[in-house]
Amino acid sequence: MVPTEKPFLRALRAQSTVCPPIWLMRQAGRYLPEYRDVRARAGDFLTTCLTPEFAVEITLQPIRRFAFDAAILFSDILVLPYALGQSVRFEEGRGPVLEALAEATDIGRLDVHGYVDRLAPVYESVRRLRADLSAQTTLIGFAGAPWTVASYMIEGGSSKDFAKAKAWAYGDPGSFQRLIDLLVETTAEHLIGQAKAGAEVLQLFDSWAGVWPETGLRRWCLDPARAICARVRAACPDTPMILFPRGAGLLYQDFAEESGATAVSLDTTVPLAWARDHVQSRMPVQGNLDPIALLVGGETQRAETARILDTLAGRPFVFNLGHGILPQTPIAHVQALVDQVRAWQAPV
Ligand code: CP3
Repeated sequence: MVPTEKPFLRALRAQSTVCPPIWLMRQAGRYLPEYRDVRARAGDFLTTCLTPEFAVEITLQPIRRFAFDAAILFSDILVLPYALGQSVRFEEGRGPVLEALAEATDIGRLDVHGYVDRLAPVYESVRRLRADLSAQTTLIGFAGAPWTVASYMIEGGSSKDFAKAKAWAYGDPGSFQRLIDLLVETTAEHLIGQAKAGAEVLQLFDSWAGVWPETGLRRWCLDPARAICARVRAACPDTPMILFPRGAGLLYQDFAEESGATAVSLDTTVPLAWARDHVQSRMPVQGNLDPIALLVGGETQRAETARILDTLAGRPFVFNLGHGILPQTPIAHVQALVDQVRAWQAPV
């Protein structure tokens, strides 16, 4: 393996770094005035994601401001259902709206042949970004995990209880498995496409893993994650994979042991000493400041950040939030966070 000086890649390979690398989930977004400017002239959200000129500019905005160790491609997990031919749009103030899959026969209408072509602008953005980024900054590609993406495809948008998607999985596991298998295959291809275009790390977002009991969490989240990691690893053996099984609780340990991922991203609720002893003992971890602590700022933010650093920064660790940054977050709080993490020193 070629030696690297990029701190984020070093941490994911369990090599030492001066201080923990840092990036934030949803770091490109509405809390930045320059993002709101581009969005105002770019048109609808999906067009913004699928126009390399806009996607590249938005990806670079938080890097210019904060010099994060990683740039995450500006895109969305719902570009995949869109590319599979499902109607997807984003409504101001309401979030994503999809033409919901209502029954098993709807799965057959998804276009499993043309989707790679429809995602071509994403790969073009990745190529341009790799050419633009500095030698210190790592480029992350990503996708939604099958369960989280399936939940939007079946619910038709965001949901409080996931009743339709979960009832489908319980009531007709055979056809639900077909949808998950289709998503495993196409998600792996989408991730491999990003890696081949130049993404150096891949993250799989399972934002709604935590709504399942153990049986569902294993079958609909852990098993698909393992299948995706195996496919990506076969095609791109050197590309680290980070899993974010948000809400997996004690099963974080099983994700670390059984998924084949390189690292896991801890959600805000995971107790730090437990994560150190049961997860970080096996692989690098990323996380997990409460986005609300960053919103509040001041001593709350400082103390919560210190607690995380004190417990996890001595071993392979990437500083991040436990979920995406909120649009109301003051920019000064983000800068204070970066300064505090960069000032960390190993205890002597
Ligand atoms: O992290 C980054 O900066 C990269 C870009 C990124 C976006 N979405 C941009 C975005 C990433 C990695 C995502 C992932 C994503 N998208 C997830 C998983 C992570 C998580 O937060 O749980 C999910 C569940 C989605 C689906 C999605 N996209 C929803 C539910 C919404 C609406 C809610 C909202 O925040 O508006 C989006 C829209 C979206 N995706 C925005 C951004 C910057 C806001 C769109 C706008 O400009 O109005």
